[in-house]
Amino acid sequence: SSIAAILPAAGSGRRFGSHENKLFALLAGEPIWFHAARTLANQPEIGRIVLAVSEHDRTAFEDRFAPWVKQLSIECVLGGKQRTDSVLAGLDCVSGDKSIEMVAIHDAARPLVRAADLSAVFQRAYQTGAALLATPVAGTLKRQINAGDDSLTVDRRELWVALTPQVFHLDLLQRAYQRYRGRPATDDAELVERMGHPVALVHGGADNIKITHPEDLLVAEAILACQKP
Ligand code: CTP
Ligand code: MG
Repeated sequence: SSIAAILPAAGSGRRFGSHENKLFALLAGEPIWFHAARTLANQPEIGRIVLAVSEHDRTAFEDRFAPWVKQLSIECVLGGKQRTDSVLAGLDCVSGDKSIEMVAIHDAARPLVRAADLSAVFQRAYQTGAALLATPVAGTLKRQINAGDDSLTVDRRELWVALTPQVFHLDLLQRAYQRYRGRPATDDAELVERMGHPVALVHGGADNIKITHPEDLLVAEAILACQKP
């Protein structure tokens, strides 16, 4: 049985500041969203790829991006106002498919995820039912409890930055979403943690960055140039 990749792509990219969805910007000549979709499509565990797109962008995926969508047999679904709504639309799309055991939720805005990290997080999720990629916090962290308080140093040795993909048994994530519908969480793993189900942490590359601001695209170009021999 296989894994369905769900890629939330239905944001607007407000912080990126382009006139259209940041995911349409080109990275090494291809749209940002296409990179992760292709890396996922090349994984033997992946059985389906579902892309959540906004109403606003739907025609772009039907026309302008049609050859890319077709090449990877991507299924497009209508995303929602919040990222969680978009993930839910993807879950609804694969629910009832008996061939799908797990779902891998991956930000379309993380184009640089490596195949080796995918294999590692998939393997762990098969063992435990829930796993996410994460990378150690690199900077020194300070805590300020109230505005104006003196700084306190946080011990970063036990702190990790959550990345994607986050991979779960399909029915586990569905139950988490049913139970916590309407209660915001910053990632999918948090919803599963709230149910009391452990989520395994898999050490992934720090170069699996999310394109958020315009300068992130320049960094991504540089990382890609290093990755290629
Ligand atoms: N996303 C989504 N549906 C939403 C909001 C976000 O599918 N309603 C997707 C984005 O397209 C992106 C991923 O979730 O691939 C991570 O979100 P983020 O980096 O915040 O992208 P945007 O929301 O588009 O950017 P911004 O917050 O700057 O507007
Ligand atoms: Mg956002």
